Amino acid sequence: MNYDHARAYLAMTQIKTILGLESSCDDTAAAVLCDGEILSSVVAGQDNLHAAFGGVVPEIAARAHAERLDHCVEQALDAASKTLADIDAIAVTAGPGLIGGVISGVMTAKGLAAGLGVPMIGVNHLAGHALTPRMTDQVEYPYLILLVSGGHCQFLIVKSDSDFTRLGGTIDDAPGEAFDKTAKLLGLGYPGGPLVEQAAKSGDPKRFKFPRPLLDRPGCDMSFSGLKTALRRARDEIVDQNSGLSEQDRADLCASFQTALSDTLAAKTDRACAEFISQTGGKTLAIAGGVAANTEIRTALMTVADQNGLEFTAPPLKYCTDNAAMIAWAGMEQMAAGRFDDMRLVARPRWPLDQTAAPMLGSGKKGAKA
Ligand code: KG4
Ligand code: ZN
Repeated sequence: MNYDHARAYLAMTQIKTILGLESSCDDTAAAVLCDGEILSSVVAGQDNLHAAFGGVVPEIAARAHAERLDHCVEQALDAASKTLADIDAIAVTAGPGLIGGVISGVMTAKGLAAGLGVPMIGVNHLAGHALTPRMTDQVEYPYLILLVSGGHCQFLIVKSDSDFTRLGGTIDDAPGEAFDKTAKLLGLGYPGGPLVEQAAKSGDPKRFKFPRPLLDRPGCDMSFSGLKTALRRARDEIVDQNSGLSEQDRADLCASFQTALSDTLAAKTDRACAEFISQTGGKTLAIAGGVAANTEIRTALMTVADQNGLEFTAPPLKYCTDNAAMIAWAGMEQMAAGRFDDMRLVARPRWPLDQTAAPMLGSGKKGAKA
């Protein structure tokens, strides 16, 4: 379906203004979308609530979502200069994610939909990420996307708002999780990605020979937990020899880790591009998720896209990380295709986008992977 069709259908159903809600992990978010344009996108993060634990604590996250969703909705409406009476439909993340948070969002959506007498739709969080390049860059189907964040890592061929083929993904940790654990092992703080990237700037990426896992196996599956173990071993050896880590040791460990991860992602992306091109003849590689903020990784993937003759798209960071605008957009595309939910909508901890692919094995800090 193209954009004009989607707009025409929604105009027919009189759905113009959509309220999006997101609460599947550690960001509480609300957004208002009108005729496909983002009028507002409010995200209340919870890093300060989880920092002491070095990762997301599901129960703390769920309580914070329940407390904050209403405020986020108010702020999103205010920022969009709209009121609840202007809302024509609600789109809410209904999974996969930490179940307490997902329930908070789904119950809020049901309450609003019932109170306002408007339709609603439960959106797959991963579909939200996967469709973001359409919202930000009007990318046409089909395209290849690498979702790479603290909870997700998978290659998807996106053929429509509801047709996703998974070419591979992590079998254990997600890259963002590996960054966070590395930061924790080196005492850098949380969330780890930006801190490791910063430290890596003054480090030597060749000092430590960390593994490039699963490159010896065919296919696009990845594994990052061995990388973290190798880093811990290298750290322990230095500590044994020198009774501590110097700033330079830290920087070298970060740089070597980041380059190993970036090389692995690039090599697997190269394979995914070849598969994507042979299956679909498509023209675009997109990337989304918090780890897409990393300059070394972004640059490596841009090069891979170029070598494969593909356009490269990375949405602005605020729409790469968890947000509700992407949920409103995915809901809009799906409602435009005639799909709606009702009060029987359930919150789902697991919800694979590609129902035909084998289940992913890992289960990381952000809960079971879809
Ligand atoms: O997409 P996101 O906000 O949340 C989900 O996981 O869904 O991604 C957060 C993850 C964290 O693990 C964080 O450490 C990582 O993205 N991250 C980065 C960078 N900025 C955030 N990883 C590497 N380099 C960065 N600059
Ligand atoms: Zn996410």
